[in-house]
Amino acid sequence: MDEASVIAARLGGVPDARALLEGLFFHAPVAFHLYAADGRSLVVNPAFRALFGTEPPPGYNVLHDDMVARMGLAEQIRRAFAGETVRLPTQWYNPRDLTQVDTRAAKRIALQTTFFPLFDRAGNLSHVGVTVHDVTFEEDLKSAYEEHRRKEHDLGLALKAGRMVTVDSDLENGRVHSSENARDVLGLPPDVPLETQADWMALFHPDDRKKTESEMAAAPDGVPKLDRVFRIILPHTGETRWIERRGQLTLHTGGGRGRWVRGVIMDVTERVRLEEALRATEDQLRQSQKMEAIGRLAGGIAHDFNNLLSVVLSYSDMLLSASVVSEPHASDLREIQGAAERAANLTRALLAFSRQQVLEPTVLDLNDVVHRMDKMLRRVIGEDIELRWTAEPALGRVRIDPGQIEQVLMNLAVNARDAMPAGGKLLLETANIELDAGYAQTHVGVTPGPHVMLAVTDTGAGMSKEVQAKIFEPFFTTKGLGKGTGLGLSTVFGIVRQSGGHIWVYSEPGQGTTFKLYFPRTDQPPEVKSRVGAALGSLRGSETLLLVEDDEQLRVVSRTILDKNGYRVIAAGSPADALDHCVREPGPIHLMITDVVMPGMNGLQLATQAAKVRPAMKVLYVSGYTNNTIVHHGVLDEGVAFLQKPITPDALLRKVREVLDAAMPAVVA
Ligand SMILES: Nc1ncnc2c1ncn2[C@@H]1O[C@H](COP(=O)(O)OP(=O)(O)OP(=O)(O)O)[C@@H](O)[C@H]1O
Ligand SMILES: [Mg+2]
Repeated sequence: MDEASVIAARLGGVPDARALLEGLFFHAPVAFHLYAADGRSLVVNPAFRALFGTEPPPGYNVLHDDMVARMGLAEQIRRAFAGETVRLPTQWYNPRDLTQVDTRAAKRIALQTTFFPLFDRAGNLSHVGVTVHDVTFEEDLKSAYEEHRRKEHDLGLALKAGRMVTVDSDLENGRVHSSENARDVLGLPPDVPLETQADWMALFHPDDRKKTESEMAAAPDGVPKLDRVFRIILPHTGETRWIERRGQLTLHTGGGRGRWVRGVIMDVTERVRLEEALRATEDQLRQSQKMEAIGRLAGGIAHDFNNLLSVVLSYSDMLLSASVVSEPHASDLREIQGAAERAANLTRALLAFSRQQVLEPTVLDLNDVVHRMDKMLRRVIGEDIELRWTAEPALGRVRIDPGQIEQVLMNLAVNARDAMPAGGKLLLETANIELDAGYAQTHVGVTPGPHVMLAVTDTGAGMSKEVQAKIFEPFFTTKGLGKGTGLGLSTVFGIVRQSGGHIWVYSEPGQGTTFKLYFPRTDQPPEVKSRVGAALGSLRGSETLLLVEDDEQLRVVSRTILDKNGYRVIAAGSPADALDHCVREPGPIHLMITDVVMPGMNGLQLATQAAKVRPAMKVLYVSGYTNNTIVHHGVLDEGVAFLQKPITPDALLRKVREVLDAAMPAVVA
């Protein structure tokens, strides 16, 4: 039995089957459209009219419809009229296009249209039926879903690119759901659970855990701060990572399930480290600017003091050596002299700190210096302190003033001794170190390249951060009154910096201290400079000297010293005066002794001018101070005769004799 017969049999009991079928056609909530086999529209049902707001015009033939052709549907519709069931692809229509009525408010609708053939009993196509479904809602849903998928994908990409993890915590039951990349981003192995709030809390740095717990306890709703930065500790490596979290509290009311915190977390360890490094360099910069300012102040003071001390020292020396003062006044005078000498040592330390000492660097091996000082160092530190030395055998060479580096080692050793009153170890270490660009970036003033390191470590009391911040400042001491002057490390600092090196301190209270000194490595061969002047016979002489000094007291005392020792002295209070003498003096002038820093013209400029008039005249510079005229970055120009202030009669006379007797060029410009 075919389907038609079944329907006929089923409907056999229905008195008016035709009315029933008409009822189906007219009342079914599906839009129907019936066509004749030749394409003419026959009838539509009310649902069709409701959907389109109109019905096909009289005489409408779908096979001749231009719009159908324009929409590219002609072929499919032709197939339907050839006896196939054809389901057209979903079409978006604006009802206005169909009705030609301007229904502005009309919304585009998505339609799904199916053409199905109807055959007569003989099997010939008699009609074509059409159903039209409004699938706008489904289509909207579908595109909303696609949009959602796309956004989710984008979000996924963004999370991945930003190395962000989404974390949703259910505040009711403590469960946590995190995105798949959590372990990857945080660097956690698979066996660390991340399912509950307790699992996460277990990873927190103890301090941050305590803070979070107390915050949660204090908050009225038990919700911790949503935006925060905290540390976690990776359980398998012990490494600390910095995590930033941003969250939002979501409340589900009514049928929902309570409160959630949803948000993202990201690993900001790199950022935090960079910020820390930046802060450290800023601190260093501030520190070095401060040292610079103190240095200028100290240098200025030392300069003026040098002139005053030269006067005091010279007069007390002259009085004592002339034996015109008898006891007990002579010993009072010796007290004055002793105090002035101590003051001279202080100014020397200040000059060292302000990097205005005159250095005489030579190329040397630091191991040789340490070796040479071994005995002296042992004597200084005493028997309760063990001295150990780890020397790099193929140590690079450095260019440094040997006397100054000895001073540096001595000051560091004395400090180490003071830090270990009950004994301990003093370790000296030398090594070749390559300071790279990364190091230079985080250490102000460092030029990357090969360096030689000298490290001095003690096992003593160590220092707090606060003390470390001040140790290089002149007069900073933690030692009692009269025990320390606080100039040891400022001298070290000045010498190291003036030699182009760097010094860093590493210390913890109770853990000892390490000072690391870095000096740029040089490839020049080592040199041996004889620093001992020729043995001098008498300090007296009869030559003519031109003395140029703007400080009157100092000029007077220097003149007296030289006068008394047989010299003929022409004194000038200014460079202009001096040049005048050069021109007008009828006889020879053997030597000009000139201050370096003077108003109007410096010593070198004066010497250059004077050489034009008196090319044979020798020059001796006297200064407490190096201001880059004859000394460049603290290094004396080759062949220049120089006397460091404060002067004493003995030093002045010796130097004058040395220069007069030496076969040296008159002027070095
Ligand atoms: N090795 C060290 N261990 C612990 N603290 C130190 C060490 N070296 C220096 N210090 C601290 O730094 C301070 C300054 O040292 P510095 O050498 O400049 O002055 P001083 O030793 O106090 O006096 P001075 O060296 O002039 O006699 C010291 O007072 C001490 O507090
Ligand atoms: Mg000291």
